[in-house]
Amino acid sequence: MSSYPVSSAIAEGNGYTIVENASLEGRNSFRVPARTHLLIDVKKPEALGEVLAYPLLNNAPVLVLGEGSNVLFTRDWPHVVLSMASQGIAVERDEIDACRVRVAAGENWNSFVHWSLARGFAGLENLVLIPGSVGAAPIQNIGAYGVEVCEFIESVAAWDRHGGKPVELDVADCRFGYRDSVFKQEPDRYIVTSVVFRLPRARELKIGYAGIAEELDALGFNKPTHAQLAEAISRVRTRKLPNPALIGNAGSFFKNPLVSTAQGEELRQRHPDLPCWPTADGQLKLSAAWLIESCGFKGLRRGSTGVSEHHALVLVNLGGATGAEIWSLAEEIRDTVHARYEVMLEPEPRIL
Ligand code: FAD
Ligand code: EPU
Repeated sequence: MSSYPVSSAIAEGNGYTIVENASLEGRNSFRVPARTHLLIDVKKPEALGEVLAYPLLNNAPVLVLGEGSNVLFTRDWPHVVLSMASQGIAVERDEIDACRVRVAAGENWNSFVHWSLARGFAGLENLVLIPGSVGAAPIQNIGAYGVEVCEFIESVAAWDRHGGKPVELDVADCRFGYRDSVFKQEPDRYIVTSVVFRLPRARELKIGYAGIAEELDALGFNKPTHAQLAEAISRVRTRKLPNPALIGNAGSFFKNPLVSTAQGEELRQRHPDLPCWPTADGQLKLSAAWLIESCGFKGLRRGSTGVSEHHALVLVNLGGATGAEIWSLAEEIRDTVHARYEVMLEPEPRIL
């Protein structure tokens, strides 16, 4: 990567700071080196209009970055990186059966899950331990263990870069799908500033996902509470997924592919143990991990990059890898799976 001079703060306004020539290595969970021309941390959403009109930006492309746990920098980003650093959890309406709460984009997702569990709210336990910020949660509609965040979102507040003003999108406007939303479909349009959740006080536990009931049994939780289910899910996740603080990764590198029922059934005839799940709109979702493992990639080491030995969907930085090296391995995996199964895997992280 390039050898820029050391970074320096060049402006500090009311609610934001701007740093020139900033390193992004500590701001992406793959821990790959990359630099940006201007790094802007915005603490107050009200400052966004002023920040985006700053002459220094000079209409340069602006990448919005949260905690960097779903991005891969294959090179420097020689433009502008903007990060929402706003904090705050505000209960807007407290009813008997549910509560409406507005959470600032810069809050940490897992901390918010624990905030909700500690106050007796139900539902977010399946989404415990997902890295990243609250502002990024709607972008790919984070999901795990049979639950998606859109089930709890009432609206999303954002700065609309097309209209140059703040907007509030209701859940239908967000067009949520599996790892999808309007924010992914129109990637450079919205800067999420806060998310409004409706948190129920009671909700049936979702323990149907493979391995969860067994983990609850192993813990001796016969009549689990929501917090106990969170504990069981945390244990399963910790066994399967490498901790990015110790080994660089971005969770699942590919989405589970959606295929037509006809294509899925044809594949299942040839490979009866290929896991697949029907979707609400009549497609079949295939296990990307199975496809990759069956091509022999699980546990592979290639220079400083590799595929986790615990989970075939997780590409890892074994120390000192560049984003370009990780992307090259990803392309090899994608092309091998395609040649063998005629299924094209799509990356889940944003590739830059
Ligand atoms: P970033 O990586 O910084 O950004 C992700 C995307 O969101 C980018 O396109 C970025 O431009 C955009 N973005 C970020 N903030 C904003 C904003 N305020 N406004 C507009 N756009 C924004 N994901 C799951 O769904 N389920 C899982 O189980 C899961 N497990 C994971 C496990 C590990 C170990 C890791 C490393 C990742 C995992 N992920 C999972 C992916 C990741 O945690 C989520 O995608 C998370 O929401 C990313 O948050 P972030 O703040 O790090 O976003
Ligand atoms: N499998 C393999 N080999 C492996 C791992 C898994 O063949 O190495 C097969 C097994 O049959 C297993 C099945 O794949 O039963 C599903 O595995 P897992 O339960 O780990 O889920 P996944 O489909 O691989 C998805 C999400 C994860 C999420 C888990 C739990 C995607 C792309 N990934 O993974 O999300 O945590 O389900 O719900 O949908 C992420 O998005 O970054 C992420 C980690």
